[in-house]
Amino acid sequence: MNEQIMFEINFLELEIKNFNEKKSRLLDMLKAYPEKRLKNQNFLTNRQSDRNGMAEKFEELMMNEIKNITENLKCNFKLQDIWSITYEVGDYHPVHNHGGIGLTGLLYLQTNENCSPTYCLQPWNDHMEDKTIYRKLPSKEGTIVIFPKFINHFTEPHDGDLDKKIIAFDFEMLENK
Ligand SMILES: [Fe+2]
Repeated sequence: MNEQIMFEINFLELEIKNFNEKKSRLLDMLKAYPEKRLKNQNFLTNRQSDRNGMAEKFEELMMNEIKNITENLKCNFKLQDIWSITYEVGDYHPVHNHGGIGLTGLLYLQTNENCSPTYCLQPWNDHMEDKTIYRKLPSKEGTIVIFPKFINHFTEPHDGDLDKKIIAFDFEMLENK
């Protein structure tokens, strides 16, 4: 008898090199894409605003990290969408996913140890106890996490003493390198 894995879901964690410098350049870039709070949103974002040129600027600033991601995934990277989010005290993101095909990246631009992390939900219940399984992502400032777009994820209300800022991006994998 042998036991094998039927399904598994991986995620990537990538630490950004020279993050302090990158952070100020990314914050500078975001000045051109102000965030706002829409009525039905529990956070500030520029997702519904004009983000013309943001993808190109991000790709230029994060060239090394994108190279790292493509080498790891053994595929070419095609950015589909990018936006930023700020969580003030009490702000949270309800359970959602980003679609069925492709990957999502979350860049933790401004967080500290008190900031609420991102939780991912396992797409199936634990079959012994019929429980929902959560996985806490390493939501540390200066880190990028990459996971499949179809994974439901959420955050709890933010209670840190610092606004939490992230950049989210969706991308697809093109032909194998
Ligand atoms: Fe999300």
